Amino acid sequence: MDLSKRIQETTAYIERCMQPKGAIGVVLGTGLGGFVDEIEVSAELPYASIPHFPQSTVEGHDGKLIYGTMGGQAVFALKGRFHFYEGYRMDEVVYPIRVMKALGIESVLLSNASGAVNPNYKVGDIMVIKDHINLFPTNPLIGPNDESMGPRFPDMSEPYDREFRAAMIKAANSEGIEVREGVYAGLSGPCFETPAEYRYIRIIGADVVGMSTVPETIAAKHLGMRVVALSVITDLGIEGHVESITHEEVQAAAQAAEPKIAAIVRSFLSNRAPRSH
Ligand code: HPA
Repeated sequence: MDLSKRIQETTAYIERCMQPKGAIGVVLGTGLGGFVDEIEVSAELPYASIPHFPQSTVEGHDGKLIYGTMGGQAVFALKGRFHFYEGYRMDEVVYPIRVMKALGIESVLLSNASGAVNPNYKVGDIMVIKDHINLFPTNPLIGPNDESMGPRFPDMSEPYDREFRAAMIKAANSEGIEVREGVYAGLSGPCFETPAEYRYIRIIGADVVGMSTVPETIAAKHLGMRVVALSVITDLGIEGHVESITHEEVQAAAQAAEPKIAAIVRSFLSNRAPRSH
């Protein structure tokens, strides 16, 4: 079955239980799933019940769609994302983004955990993603282009919406939280980086590195969506300070930063003028 037909069947099913048109889409990263407790939930759907939806595998990513409100705004949240390292194809990794667009969602807020390569960063810091470097071995747009979704050669001169970034920084500051703004390098994983790889990632111009977000941003931009993204620094890949790290430590560090993320996002949403774009 072709992609647009599958998306149609997925959205038809979701719309029986929720009408998220105009909501902001939110993707919750590693260790940030508890953020859903901040949402006043009006409906939820486990991924397993949704036709054509990929299923989550990794510990710490149990999958469901949540529709509700936060900061007075309608939010459509994905608890559990699909990582390339789990073995999903790129079209599966970005499927939820394409479903969001088909549901009438025009803006998406992505979140993730990352390792810092910028020596000024600390564990627990939060970074607004300004730009990214795609180090995945592939790109979700490779293959025939569906012109009804977007152009063959999408512009990426402003992958992360300038206005949203400014609003996110303002929201953080109004909560007394200092945030960074920097460049996210996205790669496949699942290995964490070697010291030489962290060094390379720093040299090519990144501030942090992680295993998600970039494919979703590419797919969202292709669809003409506005993107804003937050990264929680969970470990350091800083020259001379590279320590051994486990997934559990990444999850714990992200969970510890969750109240800050929640405060920033709540403030961002409540300041967000209702607009159709
Ligand atoms: N590298 C890659 N991905 C990550 C890291 C890291 O150091 N921390 C959290 N996700």
